Amino acid sequence: VYEVHEIVVQKVGHVPLAKGDFTHLPKKVKIFLAHCVQLCKPRGIYICDGSAEEADEIIHKLLERGTLTRLTKYKNNYLCRTDPDDVARVESKTFITTANKYDSVPHVREGVKSALGCWMSPEDMKVELDHRFPGCMSGRMMYVIPFCMGPLGSPLSKIGVQVTDSNYVLLCMRVMTRVSPKVWELLGDDDFVKCIHSMGCPRPVQRRVKNHWPCNPEKVIIAHFPEERKIKSFGSGYGGNSLLGKKCFALRIASVIARDEGWMAEHMLIMSITTPKGKEYFVSAAFPSACGKTNLAMLNPSLPGFRIQCVGDDIAWMKFDEKGVLHGINPEAGFFGVAPGTNMKTNPNAVLSFQENSIFTNVGETADGGYFWEGLEDEVPPGIGITTWLGQPWHIGCPGKAAHPNSRFTCPASQCPIIHPKWEDPKGVPISAIIFGGRRPTGVPLVFEAKSWAHGVMIGACVKSEATAAAEFQGKTIMHDPMAMRPFMGYNFGHYLQHWLDLEKPDRKMPKIFHVNWFRLDNNGRFLWPGFGDNIRVLDWILRRVDGDASIAVDSPVGWIPKKGSIDLSGLGSINEDELFSLPHDYWLEDSRESRSFLKSQVGPDCPPIIYRLLEDQEAAFVKQ
Ligand code: GDP
Ligand code: PGA
Ligand code: MN
Ligand code: MN
Repeated sequence: VYEVHEIVVQKVGHVPLAKGDFTHLPKKVKIFLAHCVQLCKPRGIYICDGSAEEADEIIHKLLERGTLTRLTKYKNNYLCRTDPDDVARVESKTFITTANKYDSVPHVREGVKSALGCWMSPEDMKVELDHRFPGCMSGRMMYVIPFCMGPLGSPLSKIGVQVTDSNYVLLCMRVMTRVSPKVWELLGDDDFVKCIHSMGCPRPVQRRVKNHWPCNPEKVIIAHFPEERKIKSFGSGYGGNSLLGKKCFALRIASVIARDEGWMAEHMLIMSITTPKGKEYFVSAAFPSACGKTNLAMLNPSLPGFRIQCVGDDIAWMKFDEKGVLHGINPEAGFFGVAPGTNMKTNPNAVLSFQENSIFTNVGETADGGYFWEGLEDEVPPGIGITTWLGQPWHIGCPGKAAHPNSRFTCPASQCPIIHPKWEDPKGVPISAIIFGGRRPTGVPLVFEAKSWAHGVMIGACVKSEATAAAEFQGKTIMHDPMAMRPFMGYNFGHYLQHWLDLEKPDRKMPKIFHVNWFRLDNNGRFLWPGFGDNIRVLDWILRRVDGDASIAVDSPVGWIPKKGSIDLSGLGSINEDELFSLPHDYWLEDSRESRSFLKSQVGPDCPPIIYRLLEDQEAAFVKQ
């Protein structure tokens, strides 16, 4: 005698569920998924549970198809080579859509294109999306990813649900965010950020697929609807375009939520520094993409007695608590770091973080099954055969590069040997200082300090940097990247500056604000500053300033600068201190004018008047000199 179990196949519309349980999902999620199914027409629905078995299954599929290669030198490490046309964020195809244009972008000078975000009207956006999304997942599986930005259950955390037709994206989302069925319980009837991602390559495939990486570079669009808390991304699988929890949600959408709720969503690392005296400080730092956040967050200090611990390397959500102290969390769960330049000398803590359970995108591969990129020359067997990110045979000394300059490692933050015990503390960590910086080959000293909160906001608004490979820009032109947020602004930048200014209240302990530059060059084009582990010397000075040591700073038109001899340079060999700290008069006069003209043309009347006033004061101080 045997019982017959009837297996009920769940369906959404006519689309079968390959995994998971639809019937018990929160109602708003069901409505969202029904919409996604109707729009994208996938062949099946796969509701992710974040389990280890699920990861194994996805990895197996990707290996079978050839999208991933196992890096046999390590445990559970994989290489992915993308379509060579899909390797970076595409800022020119990233849009914010709001009913009112000026909610998204400032009133720019007539005839000028906005550099601080790109707005598209709801009507035009509808046309663009209608050209792309209907049927875009045809013949493909739709993965449903419940994720939490920030520790599960933290009052500072936020929930999103992403659908995607890319299992590479699913795999990376599992590393970069907290993917768990607990998210459904936490969510209940609440709203969530709706994330729809498609590689834009339905079956039967229309274009030639390269490297088993179906994508659609000609039709890429990354659309944000802050009012509806919705993101629609099409055509690209590159991290910043496709892991929607990261830049799209945690910066662009979250900056809008933060404005409404009175907190901050910033492109910042968070790190802890314990001094030789045993006192611990937390600082956050905003540098544009590929300008040193990940390295600073995990720095290996060259001064004895200091200890660094990492809380986050790319994004900070920060809120003043009831006592007026700014607290920050890292909303992410992994690191998506620039590979080239990363090695045991520059960033051992990153290297130790990605020895297992990691994904390497567009790096080279050594003949013994290891990863390779520029900067690892001394850490691989001499003469070893290498396959480039484009699949070509290569060896050290050959022309060209083994890895794409924006190649990346994706690894769990929990594997970082110096991850801070409080990195998942729901309360966050107290922030004592905020540091801005960028790649400034000339004119800008190693470090200076703002004279007030508003002055610090002005300094942040004037951040510039050499362009890097993190986006589609070419060459080494110096670009404005105010607050290191240029590509990530979710609303009118003038309103954003006002929001920063409004955060200052008498009963709050405002963090001190600094600006650093590790990238100043000498006349021969060599870095004046060794950087990396030696940046602790600058942090040491910053912390003494946080503690109010007035004897180590002198006044200057740009802010407080270190008094000669006040930065510990012991054991460094020859450092050209005068050049490193100089404020070339003509350079700064021109730079102050240029920054003011940039803000005038890009932010115009939306820029708070005090920012203009502080810049005029700076300019006047240089004129007087
Ligand atoms: P992020 O994208 O802002 O996180 O920047 P990363 O920390 O990944 O660094 C980007 C690139 O800058 C890498 O190639 C690093 O090796 C390089 N870099 C980082 N910190 C320093 C530094 O202090 N000095 C110099 N010269 N290069 C650095
Ligand atoms: P990054 O992160 O800032 O570490 O380069 C990725 C990005 O900003 O595109
Ligand atoms: Mn970034
Ligand atoms: Mn980084």
